[in-house]
Amino acid sequence: MNKPNVVMVGLGYIGLPTAALIASRGINVTGVDIHQKVVDTINKGEIHIVEPDLDGLVHHVVKQKYLCASTQPCVADVYLIAVPTPFRENNQPDLSFVESAVKAILPTLSEGALVIIESTSPVGTTKKMNALIENMRPELKGKFFIAYCPERVLPGNVIHELEHNDRAIGGISPVSTDKAVEFYKLFVKGELHKTNARTAEMCKLVENSSRDVQIAFANELSIICDKADIDVWELINLANKHPRVNILQPGTGVGGHCIAVDPWFIVSEFPEESKMIRMAREINNYKSQWVIEKIKNEALNFELKYNRKPTIACLGLAFKPNIDDLRESPALEVTEALIASNFCVMPVEPNVKKYDNFTIHHLDSALETADIIVTLVGHDEFIDVKKKINEKAFLSFVN
Ligand SMILES: NC(=O)c1ccc[n+]([C@@H]2O[C@H](COP(=O)([O-])OP(=O)(O)OC[C@H]3O[C@@H](n4cnc5c(N)ncnc54)[C@H](O)[C@@H]3O)[C@@H](O)[C@H]2O)c1
Repeated sequence: MNKPNVVMVGLGYIGLPTAALIASRGINVTGVDIHQKVVDTINKGEIHIVEPDLDGLVHHVVKQKYLCASTQPCVADVYLIAVPTPFRENNQPDLSFVESAVKAILPTLSEGALVIIESTSPVGTTKKMNALIENMRPELKGKFFIAYCPERVLPGNVIHELEHNDRAIGGISPVSTDKAVEFYKLFVKGELHKTNARTAEMCKLVENSSRDVQIAFANELSIICDKADIDVWELINLANKHPRVNILQPGTGVGGHCIAVDPWFIVSEFPEESKMIRMAREINNYKSQWVIEKIKNEALNFELKYNRKPTIACLGLAFKPNIDDLRESPALEVTEALIASNFCVMPVEPNVKKYDNFTIHHLDSALETADIIVTLVGHDEFIDVKKKINEKAFLSFVN
């Protein structure tokens, strides 16, 4: 596998950087997305998401003609799938995007091709997709390779981590695992760990569930400390001086497309056995409701004192610091809940220019106009906020 032709299905936060990194190795990559606007943007050498260093890389590989985008897959040696895997209302995984991506590549799939699913998926998904391909293209039975390789990059540092993180790679058979490992060797410098598809699928779910459980502990602590009149940040800092204690930082809740979603993929399949994983999800969801109540109480106190409703500046909408991703964002949930409760809210999000449901305000005007300043996300722009607001009421749910 020297210079395979690659198709990357799904050109979002994972698919686009991965496609660009592979293309930067002089490999021809066709990126496929269902959104024409995404395809057009990339073909102009531009990007539609915020990720450091990605614009320069995409511009370079598109100019060099190693990366092009299309709404239709073409014949390739390797097909990567990085489409969304959200959950439905009842917390059940929604595999419809992965299924349509697999169906989209079916007509161009040929003997010897390697299909790799990178989308975070419930255990058994690779086997299901293998069966789907075999059902619809029976002549290819046993003549193509399929593997699962989860993505564990950190938004904001994706380009570096794509290249340097270790990866767990699990094929539907040992030969599929080997093929996939051979492929990742072309662009990954981290270690490539071989396993089977089920273990690789579960590995990703477990990584994020582990983070969720640890954050739930910190979030629960923050609520206890509030009642106990103890500064939770100081407490955690002190406790972490213990050589074997490492408590994470509490926040507005837990958001994003991964940690807030993936644990449900375990809970939905193993409801009786996954008690702690479910409870962590519930605690982290509750934390956002608790934050909403704290802000409402502050607003009520203001109203009682000044006999008018306060204006509340909500600083940050993204699900974590220094990115523009609003998916499953607790900060967005808090802001929308306050607006829905008829509070006068000035949302501030330096990483997002426009949001359909409300106006996004500039930080300085929000700090000047609002009566209550609430930090919901620890963006760099908000570090000195407390110093700028003098006597105004200030609540921060992040360190
Ligand atoms: N974003 C992360 O930090 C992260 C980290 C690890 C794993 N993941 C997982 O990676 C997968 C992709 O996540 P993402 O953040 O890149 O999502 P995304 O929403 O940013 O991008 C997905 C892209 O796929 C496109 N798409 C949807 N259906 C398609 C189809 N049938 N054919 C072609 N394109 C299609 C969408 O238009 C979109 O551009 C998910 O399973 C996610 O859980 C994401």
